Amino acid sequence: MINVAIMGHGVVGSGVAEILIGHADRIASKTKTPVNVKYILDLRDFPGLSYSDKFIKDFNTILNDGDVKVVVEVMGGINPAYDFAKKCICADKSVVTSNKELVAAKGAELIKLAEEHNVNFLFEASVGGGIPVLRPIAQCLAANEITAVTGILNGTTNYILNKMIVDNMDFSSALALAQEKGFAERNPAADIEGHDACRKVCILAALSFGKHVYPEQVSTEGITDITLDDVESADNFGCVIKLIGSARKLSNGRITASVRPTLVSRDCILSGVNGVFNAIMVHGDQTGDVMFYGKGAGKEATASAVVADVIDCVKHIGARKYLSWEDGSADFVDNTADLATKLYVRAVSSDFEGLVKQIKSIFPGISCVKNKFRGEIAFITDEEPESVLRSKISKIQNADSVKVLHTLF
Ligand code: HSE
Repeated sequence: MINVAIMGHGVVGSGVAEILIGHADRIASKTKTPVNVKYILDLRDFPGLSYSDKFIKDFNTILNDGDVKVVVEVMGGINPAYDFAKKCICADKSVVTSNKELVAAKGAELIKLAEEHNVNFLFEASVGGGIPVLRPIAQCLAANEITAVTGILNGTTNYILNKMIVDNMDFSSALALAQEKGFAERNPAADIEGHDACRKVCILAALSFGKHVYPEQVSTEGITDITLDDVESADNFGCVIKLIGSARKLSNGRITASVRPTLVSRDCILSGVNGVFNAIMVHGDQTGDVMFYGKGAGKEATASAVVADVIDCVKHIGARKYLSWEDGSADFVDNTADLATKLYVRAVSSDFEGLVKQIKSIFPGISCVKNKFRGEIAFITDEEPESVLRSKISKIQNADSVKVLHTLF
C-alpha cells in the first residue's frame, strides 16, 4: 500500500479526494498496489463526508510521516505551497501539483531538487486542466525539435469571449456569469488580465524549449479592453477574438513569448474552440502541427490529470519520470524580435471623412470595413515587420481612438 496526502480541499482537491477514495479499486488496478489517502490538509472543517476523519490542520503531520510517499499540492498560490512542496521533496516524497503559479515561478528549482532526491515533481494539471499535453510534449514528441506552441489556455476568458461573440453579452455580464459558474479564479484578475494564461505559456515554453521562462518574460495582455464593437468588427473579417498564448523559437535560438487577444480566422481550427475548452497546438519539425483539445478547467477534468500524476508517482517510487528543463536566463526570451505579421486596426473619429482619407494615404490599396454611423474604419494590414506597421499606425492622427490587435490566420 502507498500512502498519499492531499494539501488543499478546494475545487480540485475535493475532486482528487473523490477519485482516489471513490474509485480506489480502479486506481489500485492501475498501480498494482492500493493507494491510501492518509491525510487531507485544510484549515477548514469538512464534517459529514465519508472521509472527514482524514482532515488535519498541521502540515508537519504529513512532513514527518515517513509512510507518506506522494503529496498532492492543490492549494494554489506561491505561499505556502512553495515552502511545503520544497520540504516534502527534501523529505524524499514525490509531489504532484496543479499549481501553475508555483510551476511558472519555481519549476526549474523544484525539478532540480526532485532530481537530487530521486523523487518526482509532476504537474500535468497545471496546463490545460484535463488535457494530456505536458507528458506528450516531453515523451511522445521527444524526437522533434519543437518550434512553436500556440493555444487557448484559459477557459474563463474563452467562455467570456464566446458569450460576447455568440450571445452579444457585454464583458462585465459575461464575467459575472463565468464567476457564477465557478470557472473564474478566486481573483478574476488572474484570468481576465492574462496572468493565468501567461503562467501556462511559461510552463509550455520551458518544457518545449528546455529552459525556464519566467512570467515577467512573457509579454502579457488580457481581455479587459475587448468590447462588443471589437467582437462585431472582427466578425466582418471572418474572425473571432481569442486570448492566444504563444511561444516560438527564433532562428538565433532565443524565443518569443506572449499572451494577447488576437483575431483568429474562422478557417483556423482554434476559432472553433469554445466555452471552457482549451486547445494547444504544438509544432514539431517531424510531426508538423499536433493539437491537444479538451476541458481546460473544472473540478473533475483537472482532478483527472492530478490523479494520473499520482498513479505515475506510485508506479515510479524510487525512479524518475523524465520531465525537466534548465534554469532560465534573462536573454532567453526576446520579445523585441521584429517579426513579420498582419495587424488588425480599428480607428474611430468624429471626423470620419478625414479619417478615411488619412488611412487611405498611409495604407494605400488596403481594403477597409467602414461604419459611418459609428465613425469607424477597420482593416487588416498586409504582412510587414511589426515595427514598420506600428510606425505607420502611429501616423493615424485624425482618430479619437485606435485599437490594434494581433492576428492569427
Ligand atoms: N481559471 C483557469 C481557467 C482554471 O479558466 O482556465 C484552469 O487553470
